[in-house]
Amino acid sequence: MTHSATQFISPLTFQALSGNPVALDLLDADEENAMGHINLARWADIVLIAPATANSIAKFSLGFADDLLSTVFLATNCPLYIAPAMNQAMWNKSVTQENIQRLKSNGVHFIGPESGDQACGETGFGRMSEPNDIVIALLKNSKNSILQGINVLISAGPTREPLDPVRYITNRSSGKMGYALAEAALNVGANVTLISGPVNLSAPHKLQPINIETAEQMYHAVLSRVDKYDIYIGAAAVADYRPVVCSSQKIKKQADDSIIKLQKTRDILAAVASLPKNSCFVVGFAAETDNLEFYAKNKLTQKNLDMIAANWVGKEQGGFDKDENALQIYWNSGNKSLKMTNKTQLAEQLISLIAEKMNEKNTT
Ligand code: PMT
Repeated sequence: MTHSATQFISPLTFQALSGNPVALDLLDADEENAMGHINLARWADIVLIAPATANSIAKFSLGFADDLLSTVFLATNCPLYIAPAMNQAMWNKSVTQENIQRLKSNGVHFIGPESGDQACGETGFGRMSEPNDIVIALLKNSKNSILQGINVLISAGPTREPLDPVRYITNRSSGKMGYALAEAALNVGANVTLISGPVNLSAPHKLQPINIETAEQMYHAVLSRVDKYDIYIGAAAVADYRPVVCSSQKIKKQADDSIIKLQKTRDILAAVASLPKNSCFVVGFAAETDNLEFYAKNKLTQKNLDMIAANWVGKEQGGFDKDENALQIYWNSGNKSLKMTNKTQLAEQLISLIAEKMNEKNTT
């Protein structure tokens, strides 16, 4: 923290919230050589200045080093990121823009700012980007970006197969698994498109899902674009059958029993995997109430998939609509168990396994 920053928020608050010590002073008596700034500069993998004022940016641009922050900035060899935050008039001044250009030409990365309402009551460019956006930008550029530039298409959630204008057949999928996968893929640098059935979830930041309702709509949404993708992950719980007839009027209550005739939907996953000249790495899911391994392996071979992630459903834990899940992953030459954990972590593990196996496939 700079000393100006401590006028807004106390270092103790920062320390308590982050669980980390807060560095303030250039010369640190607690460090063996009293040169805390050099140690911090060597230790950091990335230096991010957020929020960065016009004054700090001017100092960085000219190489001033008169406090801990500017000294670490000058002394470090790691990637440097700046998330500016200032009044719109200060942002628009040519001197500020010249400072920014000088820093950019020296390899410093800028994240934001955004346009909008400012703390000073004015409106315009200069609002610091949302912390979440800053984190995503950092992750995209970090060395952990195992899917940098890779196009990933993910399906999530249930489908609804209408019987009449007010009723439909659906299943218990919440979309949580598919949405967690989209977020995990974004966080490692992928360009993600999410095709989603009806769910009650907010999309990962800056991702606008393509919303569909029926299996047939999902089929078209996937098949019309999948040739531009490197990976397809079918996490959606797509209806296997739909009513043959969808009545245009509400079906009236009449006889004591009633039969609904169903017909098979098209299998999206199998269609993707059987596309001619398909270079897409295709990952399916298997949701089973019994014989998990047997059915999952069958789907892997019959649908000609690169990988299948099998999960138990209809049990106390995991699968549909829960925050936690466990997965049994199979591919042609191996398998891996991902044990019960929250879907966010599980998705991160699955995405990293997919990246590893896709790279293996592409190098053999
Ligand atoms: O959404 P959540 O509440 O988080 O729950 C997650 C989940 C249980 C839905 C998810 O982990 C999961 O298992 N998704 C797949 C569910 C499913 O439909 O499984 P299945 O075994 O019936 O289908 C096998 C595969 O074929 C799936 O990848 C499915 O997307 C695909 N399929 C099925 C039918 C069809 N017509 N087209 C398809 O592409």
